[in-house]
Amino acid sequence: MNQFTDVCLITGGSRGIGAALARHLASSQRAIWVNFVSREAEAGQLCADLLSQGCWAREVRANVADRDAVRQMMTSIQAEHGRLDILVHNAAAALAPKPFLKLDWSRDVMPPLEVACRGLLNCLQEAEPLLGARTRVVVLLTDALFHRPPVQMGAYLAAKGALWGIARAAAKEMQRRGVTFAFVSPGMTKTELLGAYGDRALELFAQDHPLGRLAEPEEIAAAIGALIEGPEYLHGANLLVNGGIDY
Ligand SMILES: NC(=O)c1ccc[n+]([C@@H]2O[C@H](COP(=O)([O-])OP(=O)(O)OC[C@H]3O[C@@H](n4cnc5c(N)ncnc54)[C@H](OP(=O)(O)O)[C@@H]3O)[C@@H](O)[C@H]2O)c1
Repeated sequence: MNQFTDVCLITGGSRGIGAALARHLASSQRAIWVNFVSREAEAGQLCADLLSQGCWAREVRANVADRDAVRQMMTSIQAEHGRLDILVHNAAAALAPKPFLKLDWSRDVMPPLEVACRGLLNCLQEAEPLLGARTRVVVLLTDALFHRPPVQMGAYLAAKGALWGIARAAAKEMQRRGVTFAFVSPGMTKTELLGAYGDRALELFAQDHPLGRLAEPEEIAAAIGALIEGPEYLHGANLLVNGGIDY
C-alpha cells in the first residue's frame, strides 16, 4: 500500500501546466493522481503514458468546487494509499476577459473564485486525515498579482488574490502539524488558458517579453518540481517564474 516515497495529487492535471507537472514528477517511486473535471480522455491518456513509464498514475474526476466530489476523490486516495504527501492546487476556470465595469458578480467573478478558493478549502478539509508531517502543498498564483495587471482580467485577479490570502491563512494554521506550503506565480505560459486572448495578441505579448517568447508549460512544471523536491525551509516561498518580465 505504501511502497511509494510520495503520493501526489494535481488538481487540474489533465492538460497545460498540470499535465506537464505530472510528466515532470513521473517516477516509479511516486503515485500520481491526475484530477480533471471535463477532459477525461486527456487525463486517461496522460495516465496511460505515465503507467507505461513505470509510474503509478490514475485519473480522477472531481469539480474541486464541489465538496462531495472532492470527498469522493480523497476517499479514493485514502483507500489506495492512506496518505497524501504532495497536493498541487493548479486547477483554474477558463479565462473570460471582460472590462472591469461590465463584470457581473455571479456570472463572472464567482466561477474563478469557486475553483480557486473553494477548491483549495475543499481539498484541504477533505484531505485532512491524509495529511502528514511531511505533506507539501503548492498553490498556483500568477505573476500578474505582483507585476503589471493585464486589462480585462479583474475576475481572474480577484480569484488569485483571494487564493493567495486563503492559502496563507491555511499555511499559518497548518504549519504546526508539519504541513508546508509554497506558491508558484508563473508569467504567461503557452496553454489553453490563454486561448481567450487570440493568436495575434499572444504574438504581441511574446514580442514584448524580455526573452521574446512566452513560457513553456514544462518550464513552469520544472519550477514547481523544484519547490516540491526542495528543502522544508521553502515553506512560505513564492517563486516568480516570469522570465524576468521587469528587466
Ligand atoms: N497559462 C498561464 O499563462 C498561467 C499564468 C499564470 C498562472 N497560471 C496558473 O497555472 C495553473 C494552470 O494553468 P494552465 O494554463 O495549465 O490552465 P489550463 O491549460 O486552462 O488547464 C486548466 C486545468 O484546470 C482544470 N479545471 C478547470 N476547472 C476545474 C474544476 N472546477 N475542477 C477541477 N479541475 C478544473 C482543467 O480540467 P479539464 O481539462 O478537465 O477541463 C484543466 O486540467 C492555473 O492555476 C493558472 O491560473 C497560468
